Amino acid sequence: MITESLSPLSQALTLPCGATLKNRIAKSAMSDSLGDGAGNPTNEQIRLYERWALGGLALSIIGEVQGTPHFAEKPGNLILSNHSDRNLFERLATAGTANSAQLWLQLGHAGAMADAPISTPKGPSALDLPGLSCAALSLDEILALPAEFAHTASLSKQFGFGGVELHAAHGFLLNQFLSPLFNKREDAYGGSLHNRMRLLLEVIEAVRNAVGPEFPVGIKLNATDQLEGGFEEDESLQVVAALDKTSIDLIDISGGTYFPGAASSSDRAGSGPYFLSFAARSRKKTTIPLMVTGGFKTLSQAERAVSEGNVDVVGLARALVVDPELPSYWLSGQHGEPQFPRFKNPPEGGVTAWYTMQLTRHAKGETALSPHDLEEAIAAYEIRDEARRRIWKSKLS
Ligand SMILES: Cc1cc2nc3c(=O)[nH]c(=O)nc-3n(C[C@H](O)[C@H](O)[C@H](O)COP(=O)(O)O)c2cc1C
Repeated sequence: MITESLSPLSQALTLPCGATLKNRIAKSAMSDSLGDGAGNPTNEQIRLYERWALGGLALSIIGEVQGTPHFAEKPGNLILSNHSDRNLFERLATAGTANSAQLWLQLGHAGAMADAPISTPKGPSALDLPGLSCAALSLDEILALPAEFAHTASLSKQFGFGGVELHAAHGFLLNQFLSPLFNKREDAYGGSLHNRMRLLLEVIEAVRNAVGPEFPVGIKLNATDQLEGGFEEDESLQVVAALDKTSIDLIDISGGTYFPGAASSSDRAGSGPYFLSFAARSRKKTTIPLMVTGGFKTLSQAERAVSEGNVDVVGLARALVVDPELPSYWLSGQHGEPQFPRFKNPPEGGVTAWYTMQLTRHAKGETALSPHDLEEAIAAYEIRDEARRRIWKSKLS
């Protein structure tokens, strides 16, 4: 039996910037849909992040925090800007760092996949596909993006968060620029991979200049979009090699997209963990710490991934929705494996909606949902988004 002191998960990890993660378990970014509809945190959200911190993880990442109201992924996203309610954000930062956990904000921009009712979706190139149409960003709009990300990163630091993660995965803006499917530009930001990663590298440089050398800056990167014509492993490896020359502190490897009809990691039921072979290939390209997110279900999977040497941090999303206290069980040697729900023929996006509503239950201190509540959960999720869209439009549009 593996004891606490021997578990590879219990070892601390010092990031290149000098910050330390107290162990190897992270809650990967989740869009929790718990913002108040006007971009500010709610008391329920603050309680949820405190609960996760008390549950023993080293790092918790809030998904899809926007710098402006114009390209949100959902109306429950947070917006961190000069108009934010500083007091609520500071309370969130304090609660989520209980128990020496770190709380980072994932800086998001949904681009072509921005929630159409509350935004005007724009990506690298105009698209008119079933379920996805958007205009193209102008060159001036692209040139403004690094400073926008940098400003949000700077506010994250000022408001007491421990770090930021740039969202370059799952089909959102920075991933769209990398993807030949979304990015058909013929200027310096499109065409060759060198050009398609230009925006990402400019954002990293601007963010680092804004936050200084000692503040953690991570990135979530798709190993593959798992989408025909999309961003694939060989190109992603070249991005990893380019990231190695930057001041990034943690590369969070994941995959899949929320492109209509595509496979997303959060809806996927297959046996994991996913992306480990990509992590092994990445290890040869970089010395930056690697986190892998996707499909971890058991303690032995997590321990094996770290002890094999290609993964420094295990990223968990759904496992920490099923059981927010899981890290403390795993680290104390009590297995306490999470009991994952199984769904029969869920509709696209249905599993992610169920998990999002389960988060709401935790945040409110209510009893857990059962897998049989799938339809009810999807309906409640949609009704809440509609209500939030009304608030968003009245206060922010
Ligand atoms: C409810 C929910 C919301 C999510 N929102 C985000 C997000 O905002 N940003 C992100 O990078 N990934 C998001 N994900 C994806 C997860 O971070 C993760 O990559 C995926 O669920 C696979 O990991 P898992 O098997 O541990 O769940 C979300 C997943 C779930 C279940």
